[in-house]
Parts: sequence; structure tokens; C-alpha cells
Amino acid sequence: MRQLLVSFYIMAMMSIVVSACGTSTDQKDKLSRKDQIKLKQYIIEGKQLYTLHCSNCHQKDGTGLGKLIPPLANADYMAEDLNRTVCLIKNGIAGEIVVNGQQYNQPMPANPKLTPLEVAEITTYIYNTWGNEKRIILVNDVAEILNGCGNAD
Ligand code: HEC
Repeated sequence: MRQLLVSFYIMAMMSIVVSACGTSTDQKDKLSRKDQIKLKQYIIEGKQLYTLHCSNCHQKDGTGLGKLIPPLANADYMAEDLNRTVCLIKNGIAGEIVVNGQQYNQPMPANPKLTPLEVAEITTYIYNTWGNEKRIILVNDVAEILNGCGNAD
């Protein structure tokens, strides 16, 4: 009886160890093939939308305009907070902000007509260009972030 208990205990411990090893940590960071294709599509669409809605001010290369328009290329402001970026693309932003150590204080107009998909495509484009971190920002996540925007401000 006692031996049975001990072997049961050992089996239980082993199954815990095995299941802990089974959940690979880096799997989450790797994009599936489907997401890789989606990422490419988002970037292509996002680039066109960016050219249409954003590049007048932020420039095609994302460097902004002197002290008036902040850069998107290598912008610490974008890296700090993805949700904030998604919200300001849709709702605009006013008041003083600091980007890469430089102060800016010009209002950026809202884009109320952009759909969550379009916001996702633009966001994915600007987060995968000009040295910014590689990631896909999916439409469902954007829809959820947009729902929460008002609460933050
Ligand atoms: C009329 C000019 C104008 C247009 C068009 C415009 N922006 Fe902006 N954007 C600004 C200004 C000015 C600021 C700084 C706002 C402030 O000082 O509060 C800004 C700030 C930002 C920021 C945060 C600061 C930074 O550099 O990281 C992001 C991100 C951004 N804009 C992205 C976009 C995207 C994406 C679009 C297109 C959908 C867009 N902007 C369209 C003028 C513009």
C-alpha cells in the first residue's frame, strides 16, 4: 500500500514536470505562417493609408518636421505605449508631448473615419518600419483598445 502511494506520488510529480516543459516559451513570440502573411498584407495596406493620411505631416520617411511634427521613426513615445498610439491615430492628440527628448505642442487632427482594420494596418505599418520593433497589431486588438480610449484621457 505504501509503495503504491509512493509510486503514485512519483508519477504525479513526473507529469507536472512533463507538462511544465511542454509549454514552450518562445512559441508565443513566433508568428504563425498565417500571421506572417497577414503581417505582409497589413504592411502593404498600412503604407498606402499612411501615405494618404499621415505622410503630409510626419513625412514619408517618418522623420517628422523640425520642431512642429514629431518623428515616428525610432520614436521612444511610440515604443512606450502601443495603446496610446492606437488611440491618438483615431482621436487625434493635443497638448505638450516629448518625443526623443524634444518637446512638441501642436494639435494632431483626429481620423474619425478610419475603421479598426485601417487603424490596425496603419499601426502595424508604423511599428514595422524605420527601425521600429517588429510586431503585428491585429484588428481585434485594435477594436478592443479603441473601446477603452476615452477612459485613458
Ligand atoms: C496635420 C498634421 C498631422 C497629421 C495629418 C498626422 N499627424 Fe501625427 N502628430 C502631429 C502632431 C503635431 C503631433 C504632436 C501632437 C502634440 O504635440 O500633442 C503628432 C503626434 C503623433 C504621434 C505621437 C508622437 C510620436 O511621434 O510618436 C504619433 C504616433 C502620430 N502622430 C502618428 C500619426 C499617424 C499614424 C497619422 C496618420 C493616421 C498621423 N499621425 C497624422 C501631426 C499630424
